[in-house]
Amino acid sequence: MHAGPLTIPPTLTSLASQCGCGAKIGAADLFALLGTDRPDRHPDLLVGAEHHDDAAVLHLHQGTGLIQTVDFFPPVVDDPYLFGAIAACNALSDVYAMGGQPLCCMAIVCFPTDRLPLEVLGEILRGGHDKIREAGALLVGGHSIHDERPKYGLAVSGTVDPAKIVTNRGGRPGDRLVLTKPLGTGVLITAKRKEACSEEDLSPALESMSTLNAAAAVAMREAGVLAATDVTGFGLLGHLYNLASASEVAAEVWLDRLPLFPKVQALASEGHLPGGAGRNRRWLTPYTEFDPACDPALTGVLFDPQTSGGLLLSVPPEQLAALKRELAGRQVLAAELGRLTAGRAGELRVRPEAPFPEE
Ligand code: CO
Ligand code: CO
Repeated sequence: MHAGPLTIPPTLTSLASQCGCGAKIGAADLFALLGTDRPDRHPDLLVGAEHHDDAAVLHLHQGTGLIQTVDFFPPVVDDPYLFGAIAACNALSDVYAMGGQPLCCMAIVCFPTDRLPLEVLGEILRGGHDKIREAGALLVGGHSIHDERPKYGLAVSGTVDPAKIVTNRGGRPGDRLVLTKPLGTGVLITAKRKEACSEEDLSPALESMSTLNAAAAVAMREAGVLAATDVTGFGLLGHLYNLASASEVAAEVWLDRLPLFPKVQALASEGHLPGGAGRNRRWLTPYTEFDPACDPALTGVLFDPQTSGGLLLSVPPEQLAALKRELAGRQVLAAELGRLTAGRAGELRVRPEAPFPEE
């Protein structure tokens, strides 16, 4: 029997100052810092650090490239199993974004063993492991440290055929941009923390964040798409900027085509945007031209850091129908929301509407 008052352990998100991919260090700070260090080059290094791609690829031997990536972050939800699943999906996503197949994973764990029961960590790890299994990969180890603020993620190795690597530098003027998950996870998580939306409002985003980008990646490969990235902490516009810059093209986004989770537009117009959205906006403003008719709530969503977001695919118009068919056949969203254009590298234009009807 217990004597005295029961101490209730704190919730997971109450121990996080920032949530999920919104906790990323801002791109402006990060790129300025990384710019002072010359990226490593090697004849076998097919994709290195220079273009801010989702993962690195090293040519191992004939027909095999090794993909390496790492991602971890603080809790986005209070349910530890779900947090583990979401963090694992997010980490595995960078392998899918490169056109690869995840092979093995190592867990990265920061956990306050004095404040939360170990069972909570057990659930986080179980949620992650279930997603690793679903991805057909192996959990082969990890590293854990005591930390007041919990964090979890994975270092992932995968493989890819070097002739079929998907990078953020393969975009061409005229390519259409297709996104495979709705936007607004940061808005919803922020609103939920402030009790401005219900558990029910959040649930489509939870479902989406804990869905692997595996099916989207197969569709991408089947359709022969060779330029993509996944949308995470830098928001749709930030990841588009990286893709356009690396591809040395400009890009435009059509606000009437943005796929949003329910309530996101209203919550964004009420100002429920995470801190990371402000960082993304400050970084991207010098490169972005907004049409004056743009709805400010929708432009806000462009900067919203996404946790475990979808793939942003750049597809030549003649392959668009095939891509949409491949995605639809796997019950994956195919939102055509913009295009790449000839122009200065990384120059972005946001229009209220698409210039032509959806095909
Ligand atoms: Co990524
Ligand atoms: Co990443």
